[in-house]
Amino acid sequence: MMSFIKWSGSKRSQAKTIVSIIKELEFDTYYEPFLGSGAILGELKPEKAIISDIYEPLVMLWNEIKNDPKSVIENYEKQWSKLQEIGHTYFYEVRDRFNKNKDPLDLLFLSRTCVNGLIRFNSKGQFNNALHHSRKGMNPQKFASIVDQWNQLLKEYKISVGDYRKITETATKNDVIYLDPPYFNNKNRYLENIDHEAFFKYLGELNKKSIRYVLSYDGHSESKNYDHPLPKELYKRHLKVHSGLSAFKKVQDKQKDNVHESLYLNF
Ligand SMILES: C[S@@+](CC[C@H](N)C(=O)[O-])C[C@H]1O[C@@H](n2cnc3c(N)ncnc32)[C@H](O)[C@@H]1O
Repeated sequence: MMSFIKWSGSKRSQAKTIVSIIKELEFDTYYEPFLGSGAILGELKPEKAIISDIYEPLVMLWNEIKNDPKSVIENYEKQWSKLQEIGHTYFYEVRDRFNKNKDPLDLLFLSRTCVNGLIRFNSKGQFNNALHHSRKGMNPQKFASIVDQWNQLLKEYKISVGDYRKITETATKNDVIYLDPPYFNNKNRYLENIDHEAFFKYLGELNKKSIRYVLSYDGHSESKNYDHPLPKELYKRHLKVHSGLSAFKKVQDKQKDNVHESLYLNF
């Protein structure tokens, strides 16, 4: 299933591999506390899910897709048409408005029309990517059909905003948690960064409670090593998943750069 929003760090290119591993398990509730655009959720389509992210405008958008898809579709169509009529000044008008009001529907529009769909913030937390001039943004009809599919899927899921530790407090050994935190060396792609020690402690606690996790953690490309080793006692298996070409490298240097990401499993 295609994502309704573009999101930096999306696991879309690895979704089939990651989901094939999760599908081998029997579980009750699926937890995804670093939701982003939900690439794994959309591929897995579990019966029961508790999903969340710390970024409030994003979670508000997920809830609107669940509760009021019609208004999301209408708003996108209206904004998309204005961009075609007015041109680039409209994009920057929406960007300024979003940085003041944090309207989730503006976030959606910006993600679909900014350069390579990269969601980026400056040090003051302001969205700062530019308009993708050579692309028109997804056609509203296609967008509407994607929103309808997600709306069907989300009906029974609980979607909330918050820190990963808080949201997964209710998980038990019958459940599975997919974790996809931001890269630890990530300075400007997300508003929030993760503290290593706190994250390792959290994984240790999951192990103590026998709660299974699948973790996308670090990665390396031909030109850059993002690896930050995970302490060996925290996991049982370490797999490498090919995730395609680095979007940043493509944008910045117009070069091809293959990326592999790590997947750690505690079962
Ligand atoms: C790598 S992205 C997830 C991408 C997602 N798997 C996808 O396919 O689009 C990491 C996400 O973690 C969120 N995040 C950062 N710190 C967090 C925290 N402490 N608790 C929960 N979510 C957090 C960010 O807002 C971001 O959406």
